[in-house]
Amino acid sequence: MKRTNYTSILGSVLLAGTLLASGANAQMAPGEIKFMDDNSKIEASISGSPGDAVAGRKIFANRKLGNCLACHINTEMSDQGGFHGEIGPPLEGVNERWEEAELRAILVDSKKALSEDTMMPGFYSLSVGVRIADKFKDKTILSAQQVEDVLAYVKTLK
Ligand code: HEC
Repeated sequence: MKRTNYTSILGSVLLAGTLLASGANAQMAPGEIKFMDDNSKIEASISGSPGDAVAGRKIFANRKLGNCLACHINTEMSDQGGFHGEIGPPLEGVNERWEEAELRAILVDSKKALSEDTMMPGFYSLSVGVRIADKFKDKTILSAQQVEDVLAYVKTLK
């Protein structure tokens, strides 16, 4: 009679659990991200987790992080005072113009998703420009989770 090997069953269960857990939180490196539909879309969260709109709002306004206000008017943030740039289009209603997967692609790598010579930086890309300071080489401006947070916030703009 064949004896069941409980140790190996337990081992497989634990391994499957670990794989599932890491799969649910699989952050992608910039080079691993799959762009679809002519580079216009990224379907899944690049951090493996949903974004947090409250955190995203802070990143949006932070000059050292998103610094989105340097180029975009955002009426939802008129309480923030200060300078709102006009290099890019105003962002209200952006959620109605683009699907989530398209907005994600724009934020991750605007040069790929929009156009190679857009002024908009790619926030999760390693090719952000030629005149890049050494300390920013091989680094993305935002982390994968920060991109998802900004995306969640941008999607609230009416
Ligand atoms: C240096 C300027 C600059 C910064 C900083 C910048 N953008 Fe942009 N953005 C642009 C420009 C310019 C466009 C228009 C695309 C083009 O070049 O034709 C654009 C386009 C967009 C679009 C598409 C808008 C539309 O209506 O088509 C979104 C969404 C967007 N930006 C979000 C952001 C967010 C969020 C941030 C901050 C994380 C940000 N941008 C930071 C310049 C900038």
